[in-house]
Amino acid sequence: HGAVRRTVARQAQRGDLGAKMIVDRDVVRDPYPSYDEIRSQGRIVRSALTLTTVDHEITQTMLRSPDFCVGMRMPENAPSLLQFLLKVGGSWPLGPAEPPSLLSTDPPDHTRMRKLVTRAFSAKAIASLRGRTEEIATELLDEMTAHSGARPRADVIAEYAALLPATVIAEMLGAPLDMREKFLEWGAGGAYSLDMGLTFRNFRRSERDIDALSEWMLGHFEELRRNPGQNILSDLVQAHDSDEGRLSDDELLSIAMLLLAAGFETTVNLIGNGTKALLEHPDQLARLQAEPELWPNAVDEILRFESPVQRTGRVASRDTEVAGIPVRRGSLIIAHLGGANRDPAVFDDPHTFDVGRAGADRHVSFSSGIHYCLGAALAKMEGEVGLRALFDRFPGMRADGPGKLRGTRVLRGYSSLPVRLDPTP
Ligand code: HEM
Repeated sequence: HGAVRRTVARQAQRGDLGAKMIVDRDVVRDPYPSYDEIRSQGRIVRSALTLTTVDHEITQTMLRSPDFCVGMRMPENAPSLLQFLLKVGGSWPLGPAEPPSLLSTDPPDHTRMRKLVTRAFSAKAIASLRGRTEEIATELLDEMTAHSGARPRADVIAEYAALLPATVIAEMLGAPLDMREKFLEWGAGGAYSLDMGLTFRNFRRSERDIDALSEWMLGHFEELRRNPGQNILSDLVQAHDSDEGRLSDDELLSIAMLLLAAGFETTVNLIGNGTKALLEHPDQLARLQAEPELWPNAVDEILRFESPVQRTGRVASRDTEVAGIPVRRGSLIIAHLGGANRDPAVFDDPHTFDVGRAGADRHVSFSSGIHYCLGAALAKMEGEVGLRALFDRFPGMRADGPGKLRGTRVLRGYSSLPVRLDPTP
């Protein structure tokens, strides 16, 4: 593991852009200059290990193309170092992207597994959760107000942005609310497993936390067998046990873990990044306060401007081409979603945050094609409800320091965002 990391670090030092994206610390802090550097070198940039793109059209075309796969069909001739890097520490049990996760499964298995969960996340099903989500937001804001007392300070992430989606998904999955803190702790560790070339310390932490989450989940299945409820996991356990969904043990565990982890590890970043962007752009906040009908568009603009998931990858399963550029079978293309969202060919003044932007929803923050985020409608609803309730309650909220980035590469967001809640000035 250490040897692979050192090899990648050496390539980065030699100026290899693909390697730099895997190991360079500045990229975690602010990836946008590196995206522009990649863009200046071409639509697809070749590096020692991977192909890299920040091009919106190429990203979307590749994600929708049947000539690319997520791994199960990874051609044997993919470079062995690449195979190893993708699998590095492949011993951890069913991490969010480990096979048979939906994220790393190709058709036909992907189609069969995804069908079992789509209905619970349809626009209609999510619309019915809006009222309850508003109630949860109000309860959390009441607690924040009560705790802040004479010193009206708070951490938006710990006290609000993390708890809102964690509560919603726990209720959707029939998980006890007193487990929320544990989920957040395990999820924060597990999130490192998404990054290629992670440090050994973070690798060990992700392995330990994913283990703990799997163990809890297996116990939870037993509980749901004894006391089934009206929730997605009870339905999945039932589909598994009765064989109607043809779900294997690993598939059941993996879908459940992904739903839980995706439910609270991503939307926290949408709410956190949105809070940060609005505090840093008071003119945009003022516009939303004057024109609240812009909120849905503002959520898309926040997703575009600071994508909670910054990158994904696909392997060419045959010799093919994307937008006229030939790609050899076995090549891995890393698509930087956060870079594609700043493509000037699609978005005017891409580095400007504009809540009224026309076409903000052309972002690729939820990916595209068959792996398009299952939770997109849920995430957007939670983002809108969560941000709107927060700024309605504390219209004069101000940043109290720069906050702390969580330090992961695939996921971009804050682990802490201190604020002063007191009204202006
Ligand atoms: C897939 C982003 C929230 C469940 C994805 C992918 C992205 C993404 C980029 C596809 C990755 C790829 O193509 O390789 C996000 C963002 C979110 C969010 C930015 C919040 C702002 C959620 C929520 C849930 C969820 C709340 C559900 C509880 C899933 C699932 C997949 C997925 C199950 C796998 C779909 C498949 O492979 O077929 N998400 N997500 N996501 N997301 Fe989300």
